[in-house]
Amino acid sequence: MSLTFPTFPKNCRSLLCQYLTPEIFEALKDKTTANGYTLAQAIHSGVQNPDSSIGVYAGDAESYTLFAPLFDPIIKAYHGFDPQSRHYSNFNPDALNADNPDPEGAYIVSTRIRVGRNLADIPLGPAISKAQRNEVEVRVSQALSRLEGDLGGSYYPLQGMRDADTAQLISDHFLFKAGDRFLEAAGLNRDWPEGRGIFHNNDKTFLVWINEEDQLRIISMQHGGNIGEVFSRLARAVKALEQSMTFSYSDHLGYITSCPTNLGTAMRASVHIKLPKLGSDMKAFEAIADAHHLQIRGIHGEHSQSEGGIYDISNRRRLGVSEVQCVQDMYDGVVALIEAERSR
Ligand code: ADP
Ligand code: ARG
Repeated sequence: MSLTFPTFPKNCRSLLCQYLTPEIFEALKDKTTANGYTLAQAIHSGVQNPDSSIGVYAGDAESYTLFAPLFDPIIKAYHGFDPQSRHYSNFNPDALNADNPDPEGAYIVSTRIRVGRNLADIPLGPAISKAQRNEVEVRVSQALSRLEGDLGGSYYPLQGMRDADTAQLISDHFLFKAGDRFLEAAGLNRDWPEGRGIFHNNDKTFLVWINEEDQLRIISMQHGGNIGEVFSRLARAVKALEQSMTFSYSDHLGYITSCPTNLGTAMRASVHIKLPKLGSDMKAFEAIADAHHLQIRGIHGEHSQSEGGIYDISNRRRLGVSEVQCVQDMYDGVVALIEAERSR
């Protein structure tokens, strides 16, 4: 499909509209990956949603090389990571220096760490077929059913789930929401709800989302601020799943994900934290967050608002930093935020 250069509104700030030049567009517009993914598909979400912060999605690992003249500057702008750099992993809980930053439980409500993963032999969600998506669901849910001990649990497909159960899982922060317009325009909601679902253990401290933005989102979470425990459980779970699945990984970009913000570790380590005083001085709040490479989200995840002075604080960088460093970023920033809140 040939396409004409998209027009973006004047106030557009997305990385897509900053880095998609007419020259890059011309050079890439007729290229197609082996899975049939095109530039038009890669940019569709950002064209449809000019208020995107990024605006692009990959359909497969090859998208990151074939469309590199567009993806590379976006990756550099988000992660500060150069095209010739190499990603290194360190998922060793013993290397983490992050005690509970709030042992009295005055600020931190809960801690959650997730990583995204995709199977090496199947296209990413934006380019996946219905049959391939269903195959992912079968392969991943079977692998999960073999986990034992505190990681053992059950898989609940979205299709056929009672509306009340779905709503409860979402409002308790365990399940993804339906109808995200950015994912919709990226083709990630095709055939909804078929092929999607959630696995969790009895305590809901270990959960896996199947076929949302990435084929797997592997999640460890619990009440309070014991970051070490959450990280150790996640490291153990990922290791166990690697015994039966091969995830898409490159020495350059680390774990391959559909959104370039998740490349590398694909890790988002977050706390839900009460910061009502800082929340009424967003300028000071954002300055501390920026200095510590943190992202501020609302209480119901991305693109949601804070409620009752509670915020979702997480690491922003995921590529070119190890898993341990992602959590360290979050920990150091949270310590600084608690100090600032206390002194107000
Ligand atoms: P992701 O973390 O996968 O990028 P979202 O930002 O949409 O996606 O968050 C997914 C869900 O996880 C939301 O319901 C959000 O409130 C919940 N969540 C995130 N961090 C925490 C946390 N520290 N404690 C409890 N729930 C959390
Ligand atoms: N595509 C959306 C945007 O550009 C989300 C980007 C980051 N978030 C994500 N869930 N991948 O604003």
